[in-house]
Amino acid sequence: MSVYDAIRSRRDVRAEFTGEVIADEVLARLLDAAHHAPSVGNTQPWDFIVVRDPQRLKHFADHVAAKRKEFADSLPPERAQVFDPIKVEGVRESGTGIVVTYDHSRGGTHILGRASIPETGVFSAALAIQNLWLAAAAEGIGVGWVSFYDRDVLADFIAAPDGVVPIAWLCVGPVEEFQTVPDLERFGWRNRRPLADAIHADVFGKRQD
Ligand SMILES: Cc1cc2nc3c(=O)[nH]c(=O)nc-3n(C[C@H](O)[C@H](O)[C@H](O)COP(=O)(O)O)c2cc1C
Repeated sequence: MSVYDAIRSRRDVRAEFTGEVIADEVLARLLDAAHHAPSVGNTQPWDFIVVRDPQRLKHFADHVAAKRKEFADSLPPERAQVFDPIKVEGVRESGTGIVVTYDHSRGGTHILGRASIPETGVFSAALAIQNLWLAAAAEGIGVGWVSFYDRDVLADFIAAPDGVVPIAWLCVGPVEEFQTVPDLERFGWRNRRPLADAIHADVFGKRQD
């Protein structure tokens, strides 16, 4: 599969997990892809906590369900109606959770490239996630990024040391199929912007001829 095919076929997966658990050797390849991401100052500020115990998956899924309800309750009625059928996680069905963490202290105090832009550290960890996500697409494995959680709750759940921050829960597992259209488009929540709207010439707002 070309990188463009992987980019096109990659989906955020919630409802299509088969319930089978990803094979160890495939999971190892995905983590290796993540670990080859670029990172500011080559700090590699990520860690990957693999959660497979069904009891623990259920525990986290219950927390996510509570956060989903909080969000639903915050919506105006017409948005709440659109949101209602949208599934936001497949924590239990995926069979495997990968918590990706970020450690700002990794690499010491003089980080080449992070002095002016502190967020470059978190950007680096996000790139590890994207590497994993694209590698999974190439393997035919589904990934769903879940961010409906309290950071402190998840940090406690994985016994994160001080200063190590969870930045994502990834649901990872075999899938029946990949949807061709993102769920948020299919359910009428939000569509992809036209690419032309995102491209500017020289200065923000000036369009290319
Ligand atoms: C930082 C980040 C956080 C996300 N959090 C969630 C989430 O909590 N629940 C969910 O269902 N999808 C989540 N998503 C997935 C997006 O909804 C999805 O990527 C987007 O709708 C486009 O769909 P696609 O990934 O299938 O192309 C997240 C994606 C990103 C990049």
